[in-house]
Amino acid sequence: MKFATKAIHEGTKPEKITGAVTTPIFQTSTYADEKLGVNKGYDYGRTINPTRQALEKNLAALENGKYGFCFSSGMSAVHSVITIFKPGDHVICSDNVYGGTYRLFEQIIKDYGIEFTFINTSDIDFIKKSIRKNTKLIYVETPTNPMLGITDLEAVSKIGKRNKIIVCVDNTFITPYFQNPLDFGIDIVLHSSTKYLNGHCDIIGGCVITSNNDIAEKIKFIQNAIGAVPSPFDCFLIQRSLKTLAQRMRAHNENAIAICNELIKNKKIKKIFYPGLKNHPHYKIIKRQMRGFGGMISIDLGLFKSAENFCNNLRIFQIAESLGGVESLICHPATMTHGSVPKDMRERIGITDGLVRLSVGIEDKEDLIEDIKGALKFI
Ligand SMILES: Cc1ncc(COP(=O)(O)O)c(C=O)c1O
Repeated sequence: MKFATKAIHEGTKPEKITGAVTTPIFQTSTYADEKLGVNKGYDYGRTINPTRQALEKNLAALENGKYGFCFSSGMSAVHSVITIFKPGDHVICSDNVYGGTYRLFEQIIKDYGIEFTFINTSDIDFIKKSIRKNTKLIYVETPTNPMLGITDLEAVSKIGKRNKIIVCVDNTFITPYFQNPLDFGIDIVLHSSTKYLNGHCDIIGGCVITSNNDIAEKIKFIQNAIGAVPSPFDCFLIQRSLKTLAQRMRAHNENAIAICNELIKNKKIKKIFYPGLKNHPHYKIIKRQMRGFGGMISIDLGLFKSAENFCNNLRIFQIAESLGGVESLICHPATMTHGSVPKDMRERIGITDGLVRLSVGIEDKEDLIEDIKGALKFI
């Protein structure tokens, strides 16, 4: 099956009692045994839930993986992956990961004895040079949040295999519609489902997908043991949203390209970061590993005041954390999503005080372009 067909049908079978075509919300915490020690395969809601199971199957299929696991947030998905590792292990991590991922690793997990090296993983030689005897995980975000930096999936996967290091990719920014890291030999894919997968800014969720039996067993154990599982209702909403992921991603992509074509004409913009621009430093890799460019654009307006005036004068784009919804959003990473990243590190990555990040929605592109042009007059 192709993507849009899988998104609608994988994991979803007509429900047994009524034939309902939509997987019901099994809003239950527990299941009655037929007699002591005999059940129907369901025992307790944290461990297993049919609504969650349907979603997990669907997500695994969309990422071309064998196993999917859902979590109550993207951060709990990241946490489940890092929990596989032990004190004394070393992790190489993209320096431009989501600020919350950096905070989790640097301010919590580090204290449990896991070491981290944050580097620019776009530079493959840098990854090779950072490997130590105890390196057990390479954690990559591609494209990165918010600089839209790219890591070569095939190259990083080869390094992982050669050195027996697990490689995990956060695929939140581009989604399985445009990129399938497992196809390049990556071991684990994760998402903040809060973003494009759900796409309607009305739930918080996360997921982990893998084809590796050993990793799947560990994640399943951690999911149940730590218990950061999503509610059946949230699973239902994500499942419902996935049915239109293909159509939404095409619309996000089309709108973002149209906006970029306008932005490059405007002299007030110092820099534009978008994977669809031919002058992106990794355009060749992008063409090889991505089937589209997505809906995220970052622009550098130079000064904080310019960023502030621009944000405050938009009418359709709303100033908000998060991304990937049908509605267009704008954020100022230095004070919002990446506020927990130290200033010197932020500046090294390119998150200047003048940088704003656009999450281009699926409204009419003419309206979005007018909105941006109007706000640019105020800087
Ligand atoms: C790339 C990326 N990964 C992970 C997360 C964390 O996800 P959540 O907010 O659902 O916990 C985010 C949140 O913005 C993100 O942008």
